[in-house]
Amino acid sequence: MEAAGINCDQIRNKERRLIFDSETQPYEFILAKGPDVTTFLERGAADIGIVGSDILTENQSSQYELLNLDIGKCQFVLASTKEFDPDAPKRKIIGTKYPLITKRYFDNLGQDVEIIKIEGSVELAPLTGLADAIVDITETGTTIRENHLKIFDYLDKVSTRLVVNRMSLKQHPEAIFDFVDRIKKVVNERKEEEVG
Ligand code: PRP
Repeated sequence: MEAAGINCDQIRNKERRLIFDSETQPYEFILAKGPDVTTFLERGAADIGIVGSDILTENQSSQYELLNLDIGKCQFVLASTKEFDPDAPKRKIIGTKYPLITKRYFDNLGQDVEIIKIEGSVELAPLTGLADAIVDITETGTTIRENHLKIFDYLDKVSTRLVVNRMSLKQHPEAIFDFVDRIKKVVNERKEEEVG
């Protein structure tokens, strides 16, 4: 947003504050947890959301996705300890923060698995015997490596998306498209820089 000329000083110096009313711009910024972003949008408490595609897919969000911001890039993986045998005939127990995505993955493989929902530090599941394996996102691979886990399969890629509330778009199209266009320009410039 800063690269798009949007003043983010308040967010940079946020301390414990969660909501910022900009004095110089027609925006109010809300800092919410990823899974709550879709709730704020669905209930009309926010007009624009910036959130990972992992959460949009898992929450089956019907919000209108306008931009792939091409940041926050990571990937879903199936991981476990090196002893894990993905082809073993027994019914597997899979730990994950993403039960829907996990179920879809194993449904596609024609496998019926037991899914345990975990809220965080998912890597603990195979290490403690809670689950046979995990489906989780990885960015740098550090957490998997440092916990001596191994990747057995690569699933969907993930990145940060800009989504809008459809009703807000009808009510304030100019303000929303102005914001989106400013961000889009930055995203495109960065892509060109990467290519060039
Ligand atoms: C995510 C993910 C992994 C970690 C992967 O967790 O669930 O644990 O990041 O990142 P890396 O590949 O760069 O090491 P997050 O930081 O969101 O926290 P959580 O474990 O509490 O879910």
